[in-house]
Amino acid sequence: MEEGQDWIYTDTVKEHFLNPRNFLMGDESKFKCDATGIVGNPICGDQMKMFIKVKDGRIEDIRWKTYGCASAIASTSALSELAKGKTLDEALEISAEDIDNYLGKLPKHKFHCSVLGHDALKDAIKNYKEQSASNTE
Ligand code: FES
Repeated sequence: MEEGQDWIYTDTVKEHFLNPRNFLMGDESKFKCDATGIVGNPICGDQMKMFIKVKDGRIEDIRWKTYGCASAIASTSALSELAKGKTLDEALEISAEDIDNYLGKLPKHKFHCSVLGHDALKDAIKNYKEQSASNTE
């Protein structure tokens, strides 16, 4: 790659940034979810909130909102597409590299942004599992 190329977003990143999939618009209380996850990015201080609906052990629906940057928006849009329909354990297996590959690579200095949605989804799944465990006690 020539010097400076790393500053360029792929068409897939741009498309997901401009048309984010599963973005939660408006009042979040209107989306009836089974669990939420929230994380902050220690590198830049941005935040991400994730909402999941679970049916028969699979992510039936997913929404998210963030203060993050274009890379975080595109990455979480991609993640939401990758996670929908997966079992909770399969969704936990999705890696930041999977998201990066799906998008055709983020600029290296923006890779940390893809971790934000990833960690929020892990937090939502952890919260869902804890709620399920306490409901069966
Ligand atoms: S710079 Fe904060 S999420 Fe990208």
